[in-house]
Amino acid sequence: MTTRIAEASGTFMLGGDIPVNRLGFGAMRITGKGIWGEPADHAEAIRVLKRLPELGINFIDTADAYGPDVSEDLIREALHPYEDGMIVATKGGLTRHGPDEWHPVGRKEYLRQCVMMSLRRLGVERIDLWQLHRIDPRTDRDEQFQVIADMQREGLIRHVGLSEVGIEEIEAARKFFPVVSVQNLYNLVYRQHEDVLDYCERENIAFIPWFPLAAGGLAQPGSTLSEMAARLNASPSQVALAWVLKRSPVMLPIPGTGSVKHLEENTAAAGIQLSDEDYATLDALGRAEWSRSRG
Ligand SMILES: NC(=O)c1ccc[n+]([C@@H]2O[C@H](COP(=O)([O-])OP(=O)(O)OC[C@H]3O[C@@H](n4cnc5c(N)ncnc54)[C@H](OP(=O)(O)O)[C@@H]3O)[C@@H](O)[C@H]2O)c1
Repeated sequence: MTTRIAEASGTFMLGGDIPVNRLGFGAMRITGKGIWGEPADHAEAIRVLKRLPELGINFIDTADAYGPDVSEDLIREALHPYEDGMIVATKGGLTRHGPDEWHPVGRKEYLRQCVMMSLRRLGVERIDLWQLHRIDPRTDRDEQFQVIADMQREGLIRHVGLSEVGIEEIEAARKFFPVVSVQNLYNLVYRQHEDVLDYCERENIAFIPWFPLAAGGLAQPGSTLSEMAARLNASPSQVALAWVLKRSPVMLPIPGTGSVKHLEENTAAAGIQLSDEDYATLDALGRAEWSRSRG
């Protein structure tokens, strides 16, 4: 495989001052089942992480809640000291009570603990991008934003992002700090956040789509997507990812996996050049599938 293939996805200036290759890596899947505990194969998880720089991936997305702690610990074990230009973005604000259970806590004391503990686990003095995993609906929103602004002013956090938010929430947060990234569920067939994506594009905010590989029913054998993938000598999920990348210059997809084979497959999507016609065909199919799925 061509080395540093992720570079083919192009560069985005995160926060205006951190260049990252647009195709990144999501480090949620290197943990145990239900994103709880240690991965089934620790050595393979380390191999996945060590392969990232070789493939040109210099943007890793993680969270204290992945494991919890496990993902951040593995990243440090595999990649610390981080090579120049390697950006590890993390998140805080979600507590864990067991496999697949996630509960937001936004009290200022807790958010500060999240940042302090991520700094320790990742082995850094400042987190390049810290994202509020969820706004806690049971805590005053301004309290959450204020403590984040405080931590940024104190130099614990370089840039701030949000996750699963709408435009009104982004604008409310921007009164406290610059929002440089928004991480929302988005893929070819999940189009809930088109308005947020368009807003991010206008404002030059990175849009980090999670679950970016999904193509739902469009990936069935014999489908237009499957035929297009065969023509491009690619898999349907690679083509779905290539579509996501082409959708916007502010798009920073972070496909996740615990396997080197899957990592290499996903990264190869950066080298797929979709024609405008193929892009438009998939766009229309994706929107139709999204409408259908909502009944
Ligand atoms: N902000 C949020 O609330 C939020 C929520 C969820 C996720 N995220 C972030 O977004 C990242 C991506 O999201 P995601 O993991 O849900 O979705 P994804 O990356 O689209 O899909 C990951 C799933 O697909 C499988 N997979 C990956 N590559 C494959 C391949 N080439 N062939 C077959 N199967 C493959 C993985 O299993 P294998 O491990 O077996 O490959 C895993 O089950 C996460 O790692 C995390 O950093 C954020």
